Amino acid sequence: MTHFPVAIIGAGPAGLTLAHLLHLQGIESIVFEQRTRKEVEETVRAGILEQGTLNLMRETGVGARMEKEGDHDEAIDISINGERIRVPLTELTGHKVAIYPQHEYLKDFIAKRLEDGGELLFSTTVYAVEGFDGEQVTVVYTEADGSSTTITADYVIAADGSNSPYRKIITDGEGIRARHEYPYAWFGILVEAPKTQKELIYATHPEGFALISTRTDTVQRYYLQCDPNDTPEMWPDDRIWEQLHLRADSPGITVSEGKIFDKAVLRFRSAVTDPMQKGRLFLAGDAAHTVPPTGAKGLNLAVADVSVLAPGLARAIKNKNTTLLDEYTALAVPRVWKAQHFSYWMSSMLHTVPGEDHFATQRRFAELRSVLGSEAGQRYLAEQYVGRDLPRFEV
Ligand code: DHB
Repeated sequence: MTHFPVAIIGAGPAGLTLAHLLHLQGIESIVFEQRTRKEVEETVRAGILEQGTLNLMRETGVGARMEKEGDHDEAIDISINGERIRVPLTELTGHKVAIYPQHEYLKDFIAKRLEDGGELLFSTTVYAVEGFDGEQVTVVYTEADGSSTTITADYVIAADGSNSPYRKIITDGEGIRARHEYPYAWFGILVEAPKTQKELIYATHPEGFALISTRTDTVQRYYLQCDPNDTPEMWPDDRIWEQLHLRADSPGITVSEGKIFDKAVLRFRSAVTDPMQKGRLFLAGDAAHTVPPTGAKGLNLAVADVSVLAPGLARAIKNKNTTLLDEYTALAVPRVWKAQHFSYWMSSMLHTVPGEDHFATQRRFAELRSVLGSEAGQRYLAEQYVGRDLPRFEV
């Protein structure tokens, strides 16, 4: 039977980044992904990379295309009922962010993994994981052709997204899963249009939130707050443009229009799993925690998880020293809570609660104006937005 030091379930940001970081430590892994490579590379997701994620891409040899094609931003705008306030991220923090969609990030890591000769199996379903409480894990999987294979591994990492079935192994025991639901969602569109402006605009208005994001010189990404039960049919193009202009236009800025070629509703929810480990099973990324999209912290949190997990696994496998690995939950969970807080806080300041009265709307606007009206407030927001440095551990 073939043995791998590490088996990784899921080729998303957590799984692929982990496989790459382990490879740099000389540790081989096998990555299982249920979807096809095409599906992984084409799924539309959020697009902000924090400074720490940018540094990791650069330092580990995966940053070349991001450097060239990413939109490197030094500021965001926040628009309160048409009053636009600039937050100079780089001036306040020394850090930048890049608009580089998740699927582009994944393309780069997939290409690198294959170039490095890594085991990366698409269209593959894992249907049994056993022995994580013992000396060795057994993983049974089937490939697209129906053939079934069993391998063994020292450790198994569930990095298979927010519906991970492996989380139950932890939450059915001592573990907890803390959740929060939000009374709103986002309606996301992709549109063939020139940029409205270089930097992102987070806009709030008594009718709701809107986000003007970018993709390329000819394709833009916009979001509108909507009801969680809305469907794309409820958002004909006319309604989209009317609401985008109403919520996000401001003096000197008119949201640029064009052909809409993708419409989708994005759910809002928060969840945190604690602990993120049981025996030889570890959760990483969305399998462990979900954040609402405001601020686009999801990918960055996944990268932070594996920045602890990779050196932890490397020490355990190479040096037989599990002290860092044993600290995984203690190191990862507080960071997850901080990201939850930031995403929740930004969401609550920027979104209308259904049925919200004049008092509630004006109080929200006043909170935004208070934060943005003080340099300390702006710096606090900017620091959270660009993110903290990633954890760094020597092996
Ligand atoms: C994008 C998504 C976000 O959630 C965000 O805060 C900013 C940008 C995006 O997809 O471009």
